Amino acid sequence: SVDVPVALLGYGTVGAAVHRLLEESADEIERATGHRLRVTRALVRDTSKDRGFSPEPGVLSDDFATIRDDPAIQVVAEVMGGVDPAGDYVLELLRAGRPVVTANKQLVARRGAELFEAAAAGGVQLRFEASVCAAIPVIKVLRESLVVTNVHRVLGIVNGTTNLILSAMEGGRPYGEALAEAQRLGFAEADPTEDVAGIDAAAKTAILATVAFGTRVPLDWVDVEGIEHVTLDHVVAARALDMHLKLIGRATLVGDRVDVRVGPAFVDRHHPLAAVEGAFNAVMLQGDAIREITLEGPGAGGIETASAVVADMVSVVGTTGTGFLQNDPVWRKLERLPAGDLT
Ligand code: NDP
Ligand code: HSE
Repeated sequence: SVDVPVALLGYGTVGAAVHRLLEESADEIERATGHRLRVTRALVRDTSKDRGFSPEPGVLSDDFATIRDDPAIQVVAEVMGGVDPAGDYVLELLRAGRPVVTANKQLVARRGAELFEAAAAGGVQLRFEASVCAAIPVIKVLRESLVVTNVHRVLGIVNGTTNLILSAMEGGRPYGEALAEAQRLGFAEADPTEDVAGIDAAAKTAILATVAFGTRVPLDWVDVEGIEHVTLDHVVAARALDMHLKLIGRATLVGDRVDVRVGPAFVDRHHPLAAVEGAFNAVMLQGDAIREITLEGPGAGGIETASAVVADMVSVVGTTGTGFLQNDPVWRKLERLPAGDLT
């Protein structure tokens, strides 16, 4: 097996979970790719902070240069958030020929053009699956499975925090209490205004529109309204009409123009998005051949997001190394469960 040193920019909810998942899935990753990914460096602000999952001594650093100047590091996962300095760090890494994986939707939506240009110039990958809907592999589906499909509409619940708040309000809980829960569970952004004002959903919807329509949809094209002004009365009114109040992101291709918006909407209880509860997300893709595909799953959370970050890291080392998924896919010895034994 080949030992692959990797680094993390950030070691918070997502970063620590990425480290944990890389350690717990090391054997599976090696079986699939022939590589063992080992976190050798992680950037934080405060190296003395008490953390749930602690790396070995010497891994945490508050100095970006320890990652930038370490030639052994083969992939960097940016899981620190914010546009600056994260953007400048990613740019430096890409310009130095270092592949990057990011979970940062604001970075991709606001500085994507510049970053993808640097990646292309350096001939390195910049992957961003985790930036939209955490565990749901919607970017991969759009870029790979639907590459020849003319997707003309994307519609979804793309923010877990606000969906959790609206679900809780349906159960009679106050807005503030539900937001505090989303923060405690690590779902909310560092500044939760990004969630409740629709800024997070706007970035994700712009990214989805960009990938789905094969164009660049700037963030300032998105018409945004959040849920800050939603009250229990609105939620109750929706229920009285047999509907659910949801924060919906939608992007529509009309000829050679696009319409992209985020805002609260009443959703009929029979609609596929009506049943999406808590911090789950769902994205509906409408296109010529596919008619409609809905993807649903966890839209926030450390380990849920880490699954997408790690998958991107595996893709990067796999496609630049040898034998990605060339090893025998049938590696586990299982026995048939006798009928009636499944409880
Ligand atoms: P956290 O706030 O939990 O963690 C951020 C980490 O980055 C911390 O370790 C922090 O250091 C470090 N960091 C932040 N700024 C700096 C800086 N200027 N210099 C050095 N280190 C820095 O955030 P999350 O893990 O929740 O989110 C990270 C990213 O993942 C964000 O872009 C977010 O949008 C995205 N994301 C998050 C999801 C979630 O459910 N949480 C889901 C999908 C995407 P320190 O620990 O010392 O404070
Ligand atoms: N704050 C985001 C959310 C994290 O609640 O959906 C996932 O991108």
